[in-house]
Amino acid sequence: MATLESLIGLVNRIQRACTVLGDHGGEGMSLWEALPSVAVVGGQSSGKSSVLESVVGRDFLPRGSGIVTRRPLVLQLHKTESGTEYAEFLHAPKKRFTDFAAVRKEIADETDRITGKSKQISNVPIHLSIYSPNVVNLTLIDLPGLTKVAVEGQPDSIVQDIEMMVRSYVEKPNCIILAISPANQDIATSDAIKLAREVDPSGERTFGVLTKLDLMDKGTNAVDVLEGRSYRLQHPWVGIVNRSQADINKNVDINYARRKEREYFESSHEYGHLAHKMGSEYLAKLLSEHLERVIRQRIPSILALINKTIDELNAELDRIGRPIAVDSGAQLYTILELCRAFDRVFKEHLD
Ligand code: GDP
Ligand code: NA
Ligand code: MG
Repeated sequence: MATLESLIGLVNRIQRACTVLGDHGGEGMSLWEALPSVAVVGGQSSGKSSVLESVVGRDFLPRGSGIVTRRPLVLQLHKTESGTEYAEFLHAPKKRFTDFAAVRKEIADETDRITGKSKQISNVPIHLSIYSPNVVNLTLIDLPGLTKVAVEGQPDSIVQDIEMMVRSYVEKPNCIILAISPANQDIATSDAIKLAREVDPSGERTFGVLTKLDLMDKGTNAVDVLEGRSYRLQHPWVGIVNRSQADINKNVDINYARRKEREYFESSHEYGHLAHKMGSEYLAKLLSEHLERVIRQRIPSILALINKTIDELNAELDRIGRPIAVDSGAQLYTILELCRAFDRVFKEHLD
């Protein structure tokens, strides 16, 4: 029997194939929109990129103070059975990255290629895939942070531009929102919660993440937030301790950081009783379980869309003639094969 994991793997591959080719969902909801993904939302420097890195368990994202993330990064994690980890960019499909420091540099360079070295932003996403035995199958989207004012070198419209960009991702009903709020700011002022509440009033697809617990003022704690008393969400809040800027400067390793994070919660007077439900690893587990549930619920509608896609692709292949060599026809064919595989795996899964 096929596992749900192989279904999610196929969903990822179809998403990727659709990205290469443009969307083939036709009218109405496109295939891309039917498939779940996870996006991070929050104020600038709230820790979005850091949280994504910890969820993946790899150092590969540019992080730091100020506006570092300036283009959307669509990150697909593909769980492989074994072998070495590697990364691939859609803009450089032939190149396999095994050095994750080089991945970070490529993200920064590719950002600059479109925006210049300014503090400008661009809506054009960077697509990155990571293949690894140590990840869960997930599509994650890193986004620029919400801001309140333009800084030197930015147009005045940047505040609205960023909000519109972020909104365009999180308003999609298939988007699971990681709403990131730093614990050293009042939750009532959280941009993440404000936007999440607007696009997902029932809170069914919002996960509240509280970062920077280690940076709270002495004598204060976040127990009321973490236990859902300050702001109630359908899903439980998860507290996080990411690496500090000093840790980043010292190149503190992510595994060491995760261990420190675990120790932080386990040894904490305030959060000890919540330790088993805190931290990046727990967040990754929570997300992947939620994603499985969502995909299970969505299977009928995904299947309907896939069948429609198969019909449309067949019609298109008939029109342009087959078999086709190394042109777009071959890519159409790939999607068709993936859709068929999905259909097959899905039926096995039902048995
Ligand atoms: P983003 O702008 O929201 O993507 O935030 P980044 O992940 O780039 O982090 C911004 C800065 O905050 C970096 O210097 C991080 O080291 C720091 N930071 C993020 N999360 C934490 C945390 O939980 N604790 C501490 N001490 N620093 C953090
Ligand atoms: Na930042
Ligand atoms: Mg960032």
